[in-house]
Amino acid sequence: MTPNEYLLYLEDVHKRYPVKGGGEKTVLDDIDLRVRKGELISVVGPSGCGKSTMLRLILGSEPPSDGRVLVSGKPVEGPGRERGIVFQKYSLFPHLSVRDNIVFGLDLEEFSIPGRLLRYVHYRKRKREYAERAQVYLERMQLGEAGDKFPHELSGGMRQRVAMAQAAIMHPEILMMDEPFGALDDATRQEMQVFLLELWEQTGMTVFFVTHDLEEALFLGTRVLVLSQYYQQGDGVEGAKIVTDKEVPGGHPKPSDFKYTPEFSELLEQIRRDGLDPESRQKVEDFDLSHQDAWRD
Ligand SMILES: Nc1ncnc2c1ncn2[C@@H]1O[C@H](COP(=O)(O)OP(=O)(O)OP(=O)(O)O)[C@@H](O)[C@H]1O
Ligand SMILES: [Mg+2]
Repeated sequence: MTPNEYLLYLEDVHKRYPVKGGGEKTVLDDIDLRVRKGELISVVGPSGCGKSTMLRLILGSEPPSDGRVLVSGKPVEGPGRERGIVFQKYSLFPHLSVRDNIVFGLDLEEFSIPGRLLRYVHYRKRKREYAERAQVYLERMQLGEAGDKFPHELSGGMRQRVAMAQAAIMHPEILMMDEPFGALDDATRQEMQVFLLELWEQTGMTVFFVTHDLEEALFLGTRVLVLSQYYQQGDGVEGAKIVTDKEVPGGHPKPSDFKYTPEFSELLEQIRRDGLDPESRQKVEDFDLSHQDAWRD
C-alpha cells in the first residue's frame, strides 16, 4: 500500500522540545507508523515517554520537529473535524448542559459569516435537528435522562460518556483517547470499556487508546503499540521509539476468559519487560514489530 492509502501515516517523526538553559531534548525519536481504517490501537509506555505528545502530533495541535504526519494522504496542518480527542478530565464545558456539551462541536462549525446568517434564519429548525442528533447519542451512551443536567451533577463515568458522545457526534475518522478511564473506579472502568467497544463497532472509527492499564490495553485493542525510551540507545540518541507493534490475539470481541489465557499472560509479560522495565533494554534490531503494518526504515 502507498502512504496515501493508509488512514494515518507517520514517517521519520521526531519531536524535540527546548530545555531551560539552552539546547533541546528529544522526546520522540524516529517514529514510523501505518494505520488502516477501523483499527483500535492501544498505546502503552512508561510515564513521560511521549504518548500524549504523539497524540498531539496526530491531532495537529503541535507540529513534529521532523518527519511527516499524513491523514488520508494529506499532511496534518492543524486540528480538523476528522480527528477527535477525549481526555481523562476537562473535556466538558462546565457551564453547558449535557445536551449542549454534546452538540457543541456541531454548533462551532457555523462560525463563518454566511453560516451565522443562515443559522439565524434556520435557528429553530437547526435547534430541533441538533436536539434530535444529541438524543441519539444520549441514548447510545445511556444518558437518556441526563440531557438537561450539568457536568458537576454527573458521576465520573457519566462525564466520560458525555465526552465520548461529544467527540463521536462529529463522526471523526480517528478518535484519540488519552487515559480516558484513568480516574474511574474498576467497575465503572469496565462498563466504560464495553461502551467504547460498542461505539467503535457501531461507527467503524479508528481509535487510539492511551492507557497505563495493560489489561485494559489488551482487552480493548486489536493492536498494541509500546512506546518506550528503555532500549539500547546509541551514542547521542535519546527519546522514545515504538519498541513493540503487534496484533493483540483473541479477535474481537475478546472471549470473557481472555485474561486467563497463556497468550494474554505472555504478551503482558513481554510488554512489561520490553517497554516498562528500565533495567531491561533491548537492542533496536530485537524490537517486536510483527504487526502486518509495522515498519522500520
Ligand atoms: N510543551 C512541552 N515543552 C517541553 N517539554 C514537554 C512539553 N510537552 C511534553 N514535554 C515533555 O515530553 C515528555 C513526554 O511527555 P508526554 O506528556 O507526551 O508523556 P506521556 O507518555 O503522555 O506521559 P504520561 O504517561 O505521564 O501521561 C515529558 O518529558 C514532558 O516533560
Ligand atoms: Mg500522557
